[in-house]
Amino acid sequence: MLSKTVCRLGAAAAMVVTAAFGVSTASAADISVLEKHPGKSLWENAGCMNCHKWHGMGGSGYGGTPINFREGTLTQDQLEEVIACGRPGTAMPLHRKDAYQGYDCYGGLTKEELGEDMPSKGRQMLNGRQISYLADWVIKAFQERPEVTKEDCSLFFGASKMCTRLQVDQLMRAGGGGH
Ligand code: HEC
Repeated sequence: MLSKTVCRLGAAAAMVVTAAFGVSTASAADISVLEKHPGKSLWENAGCMNCHKWHGMGGSGYGGTPINFREGTLTQDQLEEVIACGRPGTAMPLHRKDAYQGYDCYGGLTKEELGEDMPSKGRQMLNGRQISYLADWVIKAFQERPEVTKEDCSLFFGASKMCTRLQVDQLMRAGGGGH
């Protein structure tokens, strides 16, 4: 599997995140940790939320099988590689400007080898540090929080009536304002 390839650069970047945050527990992240997480604004502004939605469970609005991050099992390194390199042959875009052209993707795949399967460019190009924040965000906000709650909704929409009045399942059906 392409996505299982270990990314050496990613491992180094992951250590930076741990050091910067001092977060090491495997238990579900406290919502206050997520409020201050630098991955949150990247998630909102780098285009991720348009396709994956605020709740990370995907949905309509992008041309691929919805991948539910709350059931995800990818490691920090694997997540970083997908975010940096995109996923060939799918709508998941790349986010490193040197991906496939100096930056190693999936064991050295090149643009020429990929041809039409070459991922398109994301809305915003990101550096290694931003990518490691996003991978950490995916783990803490979604993988470690299998149940989506109103608190998760409030992270993005504050005390909005949308979060207090509606049932979370309705929010998700409505697309959750991810567009
Ligand atoms: C244009 C829509 C689109 C955008 C924008 C987008 N993604 Fe994706 N993403 C996808 C699709 C579609 C897949 C599923 C690909 C597949 O079928 O394997 C995916 C897959 C992923 C995966 C792999 C999940 C897994 O468990 O296999 C990660 C991680 C990911 N995206 C993170 C991000 C992040 C972080 C951003 C923002 C920087 C982002 N995506 C932006 C469409 C998008």
